[in-house]
Amino acid sequence: MDTTRNRLIRVLQEHEGAYVSGQYLSDQLGISRAAIWKHMKALEADGYEIDAVPRKGYQVRQSPDKLSKNTLNWQLDTSWIGRKIIFEKEIDSTQMLAKALADQGAAHGTVVLADKQTSGKGTKGRSWHSPAGTGIWMSLIIRPEFGPREAAQLTLAAAVALTRAFRKEGIDAEIKWPNDIYLNEKKLAGILTEMQAEQDYIHHIVLGIGININQKEKDLPPDIRDKATSLHIETQKEWKRQELIHLIWKELESVYAHYTKAGFASIREEWMQLASRLGRRVKVTTPTAIFEAVFQGIGAEGELLLEKTDGLTQRIYSAELEW
Ligand code: BTN
Repeated sequence: MDTTRNRLIRVLQEHEGAYVSGQYLSDQLGISRAAIWKHMKALEADGYEIDAVPRKGYQVRQSPDKLSKNTLNWQLDTSWIGRKIIFEKEIDSTQMLAKALADQGAAHGTVVLADKQTSGKGTKGRSWHSPAGTGIWMSLIIRPEFGPREAAQLTLAAAVALTRAFRKEGIDAEIKWPNDIYLNEKKLAGILTEMQAEQDYIHHIVLGIGININQKEKDLPPDIRDKATSLHIETQKEWKRQELIHLIWKELESVYAHYTKAGFASIREEWMQLASRLGRRVKVTTPTAIFEAVFQGIGAEGELLLEKTDGLTQRIYSAELEW
């Protein structure tokens, strides 16, 4: 929905680095100058730093890291992801709300985001620690034109998009099969894909993404401290979540467009380039067996390729890898 606040943000953004007069804003938005002033106060409450100078007008000096619908709209230039944003300060799980909204018909590209989750969900029924103010916890609703057989490939594609975004920021992240993102041998981000489908038709997919951003070591639960990490722990920097979110959305759009036009083959190669442990020995756990093999990458459909001790290549669709 194109609210007045969103339109105001867009006008200010178009004039970034310059003052915009109250009169101009009032003409553009069709509201009084007093109403403009009220909106500016609301933006300040959201953490924007705004210069208000008599006879010159308003200028945004800095957008905040505080996540809100406003800050997420600031400088957003995606074409479909995040055109509708549902932001909650605290929620049980963005995944659960996104699934409920998708059931009610929420549009392709809708994103549910929260500053904190009290009951974050991981894969395989695990929980996902999601404290306030330090991570990116979001669920994207996708209504694909492809069928359920391809849904697993979408998860692999999403891992490529995430890793690409990190690499653009100079972070040497890697994909750990199938779709965890690792940095310096520790888990930085995870993806949870859930789908509502019939045999050959997908109603919707909810792509849940959790990324540890500004947690310090002591903020991670003790039982995962040796396995998990955050961008802050690895770089000693404070990261602006909103900028990363936009970058990730852009990369997701780009990978999705590629995938839907050119098929999985175009993504597969990049996945292999970004994957960790390629050509190395790994411990494989499937629902029925545990064995060692050499990780050869993924096949044309996104299946796992493993070279067993007899030299033969085995194709597996569901397995955990450890090393
Ligand atoms: C994993 O176990 O690796 C997947 C973790 C996915 C966590 C994200 S955070 C946003 C979304 N909401 C949830 O409850 N889970 C996903």
